[in-house]
Amino acid sequence: MIKKIVLASRNRKKLEELQALLAGLGVEVAAVSAFPGSPEVEETGKTFAENAALKSEAIARFTGLPALADDSGLLVEALNGAPGVYSARFAGENATDADNNRLLLEKLRGQENRRAKFASLIAFSIPGKETVLFAGETSGVIIGAPRGENGFGYDPLFLSDDLGKTFAEAGAAEKNAISHRGRALQKFLAYCKSYPDFA
Ligand code: IMP
Repeated sequence: MIKKIVLASRNRKKLEELQALLAGLGVEVAAVSAFPGSPEVEETGKTFAENAALKSEAIARFTGLPALADDSGLLVEALNGAPGVYSARFAGENATDADNNRLLLEKLRGQENRRAKFASLIAFSIPGKETVLFAGETSGVIIGAPRGENGFGYDPLFLSDDLGKTFAEAGAAEKNAISHRGRALQKFLAYCKSYPDFA
């Protein structure tokens, strides 16, 4: 019987989204920051799936508890899928969201094709068992200047096809219903319902 899941993320905004999405699961959801000495997992993988599994497996091993990790990013058509797995450090190792957004706008200056998508890979690891993966995507276009105050990362530049507004203009529940992370989490929740340990 699973009573507690550890979220292997240190990104506060991402944690808030994951916690909201997992609220209905009926298990305690803890952040990895509540476990002193837990490892900082380096994202050395070439894919979202590899990085998500690296994180969930390391945290499950360290805590001895089921762990869930998300690896996600923005893929821009005209940039051949960049920044992709490098989304958090597009403008450099210690880049802020504002730095990354500025660089993205610079790279797309004069570009007609502004199509982009967010992708999320959720990895779930129970100690001693094989990791399971759940994927989600959501599409939109990159606009010419930031709009909205909510969310994080590239949200102010991402005009969602589903919402007709940027993710930063959307409320949390609105974004979560159609976001890449929300869609991956929906698949995880469906899996939990059919998994006896969650009964
Ligand atoms: P990760 O923590 O390595 O998965 O980095 C994900 C990065 O992708 C974030 O730092 C953001 O730059 C970007 N990203 C992922 N999901 C979102 C989202 O929902 N909105 C905006 N940016 C996102």
